[in-house]
Amino acid sequence: MTEMTALRAHHRGGPEVLTVERAPMPVPAAGEVLVAVHAAAITFDELSWEETWTRDGASRTPTIVSHEVSGVVADIASGITDFQVGDEVYGLIGFERDGAAADFVAVPAADLAAKPSTVTHTVAAALPLAGLTALQALVDHAAVRPGESVLVHGGAGGVGGLTVQLAAIRGADVTATVRSDAVDLVRGFGAQRVIDVRAEAFEDAGATFDVVVDTVGGDTLDRSFAVLRPGGRLVTLSAPPPAGKADEYGISATFFIVIPDRGQLTELASMVDSGRLHVEIAATFPLDRGREAFESGRRPGHRAGKTVIVVRE
Ligand SMILES: NC(=O)c1ccc[n+]([C@@H]2O[C@H](COP(=O)([O-])OP(=O)(O)OC[C@H]3O[C@@H](n4cnc5c(N)ncnc54)[C@H](OP(=O)(O)O)[C@@H]3O)[C@@H](O)[C@H]2O)c1
Repeated sequence: MTEMTALRAHHRGGPEVLTVERAPMPVPAAGEVLVAVHAAAITFDELSWEETWTRDGASRTPTIVSHEVSGVVADIASGITDFQVGDEVYGLIGFERDGAAADFVAVPAADLAAKPSTVTHTVAAALPLAGLTALQALVDHAAVRPGESVLVHGGAGGVGGLTVQLAAIRGADVTATVRSDAVDLVRGFGAQRVIDVRAEAFEDAGATFDVVVDTVGGDTLDRSFAVLRPGGRLVTLSAPPPAGKADEYGISATFFIVIPDRGQLTELASMVDSGRLHVEIAATFPLDRGREAFESGRRPGHRAGKTVIVVRE
């Protein structure tokens, strides 16, 4: 087989530039595994990321979207001993590489782990990017300790929902903001308090926090400095925080980009398999309606959780 079906973009733009078409079948390079994709989750913002369009400053179009995969190993490069053909795997695909909205994707073996065994590929595909981002925000960047107070902005989102759950699992006292009717859902994730920002500003209660994890950015990020205690930690995912502002408030402020990590994927899979971590699915679309999957994020009132492209049942 030399060709496959893929959801690709030939030039920059929003969902309107995405087309389902024939594309060359990827060939796994040294250290890589070829995965037969069963499901690929999307991040609505990925079409705005520079890595989606360029590598080392040069265009890398046509680009295949969706950087979270769950599937079955179809082929392996010589020398790989950690996986075998037929293994069920899941993982995060580097943003500068072609993604998983396709029949097959080549992925470095080190970026994959065994899929959680108790859930479908659709659910497993929705975990890597959001789960790794949430875990790295809380553990690697904010070093959240049991008993600390944590404010999570965007608690109904793909990353925010898992951040609320993982913070609660780590014994934090969690407050979350939402901009929708998902208050009960996010309480169910383990948040002690949920603020619907359409009705109440998050500063209004006068609370202060040890840690803020911001998945929203913009004005929400700007206003978050003032709700941290002196010495508090702000971790934001949207863009680097304004220079010097953290010093003004006597806090630390960090922006980071999630990285693939097999050990953390294995930890997340085990939390899913033991029933401690729930992955919320907003909607699923077949590959031939992949553009609609991206468009669904623009609809007002779209459901909480991740949107997944199902390639094979
Ligand atoms: N740095 C990294 O490594 C990294 C990794 C993953 C994601 N990200 C970024 O993180 C952000 C979130 O990603 P995601 O996949 O979780 O997106 P998502 O699923 O669209 O979630 C965003 C959530 O924030 C909510 N929201 C929007 N404005 C809000 C406000 N003012 N207050 C409270 N909630 C608000 C949204 O509500 P509505 O549904 O009502 O809009 C939605 O529930 C994106 O900007 C993404 O690019 C960064």
